[in-house]
Amino acid sequence: MSDGFIRNQWYVAANADEVGDKPFGRVLCGEPVVLYRKRDGAVVALLDRCPHRKLPLSLGAVRGDEIRCGYHGVTLNAEGVCTAIPSQSGPVPKGFGVRAFPVVERHKLIFVWIGEPVRADERLIPDWSINDKPGWTTVFGYQHVAANHLLILDNLLDLTHLPFVHGAVLGGDGYAENALEVEIESDAVRLRRPMPDVAQSPLIVLTRKFAGQGNVDRAQTSSFKAPGYVFIGLWVGPLGKPDELAILYAVVNSVTPESERSSHYFWSVARSAALDDARVSAEFHRLTVAAFDQDRIVLEAQQRAIDRDASGAPLVNFRDDRAGVAARRIIARLLAEQEKMPRVA
Ligand code: FES
Ligand SMILES: [Fe+2]
Repeated sequence: MSDGFIRNQWYVAANADEVGDKPFGRVLCGEPVVLYRKRDGAVVALLDRCPHRKLPLSLGAVRGDEIRCGYHGVTLNAEGVCTAIPSQSGPVPKGFGVRAFPVVERHKLIFVWIGEPVRADERLIPDWSINDKPGWTTVFGYQHVAANHLLILDNLLDLTHLPFVHGAVLGGDGYAENALEVEIESDAVRLRRPMPDVAQSPLIVLTRKFAGQGNVDRAQTSSFKAPGYVFIGLWVGPLGKPDELAILYAVVNSVTPESERSSHYFWSVARSAALDDARVSAEFHRLTVAAFDQDRIVLEAQQRAIDRDASGAPLVNFRDDRAGVAARRIIARLLAEQEKMPRVA
């Protein structure tokens, strides 16, 4: 069965602080999932559909380590096994319950494996450790985007849109005019764009790290890892000193399909300067939300235009679409491999 999603992968289901002792529902790759925390803080992920009359369990309540359906009170434990049917005396029928999904909390994110549980391998979780690493201060956000996940990946992997979409908010000097180096590996794509002698972007100015220095040398490095992870490093250094070029801030992006036409977009921005300055954090957050709202408007309008387009004309690729095209190829290959994979119990 294929619904266009690679199932045997970890997907970000939530920012860690979205999940507490109240049920939290979110659809991942077409699967409704309810998340909650047990008393010890561990996160539980169950199918968000009561086995009785299919009311989403996320409309119910957490009771201790269990979740109780908000309709007729069926109660399920953290493994999804039904432990009580209030309207019926006698033992609960064996095997009555819902699916539990493998779930891991790491780097301030909740990762869920919607595929076959025996294939869930924690080594496949992306290294997003910059989110909670000493020496970095990070702000987090989430956006629901009414567009296919591949359009979001195109957007993240082709930053030549910066001056046109985000010029006023992020600045975009250096992107369109400097060539991108692209390296394609089997399951990953790496990019690098040196941007010598360019103006400081508003985020660089905010950190005050290069205050009074005018233009700086910059570089952008990005890497894509299937199914929807993009790390963008923004390197900045004083003019003409390549040894001092270092990541000043990084944007960590996790894209999780909700449906063919909608996606969850989790982001964080980690910076290595002005670490304890709450005003800088607030501004980093505000500017990033503003920029990603600009992207969302573009992405949702693209999706509507694609849906309405009966011409069958394909998307056209320019030079800097190489990374997005490579990411789409990797995803298509993994989907084809999934079709051939024997199902394991
Ligand atoms: S629908 Fe959940 S208990 Fe009836
Ligand atoms: Fe953008």
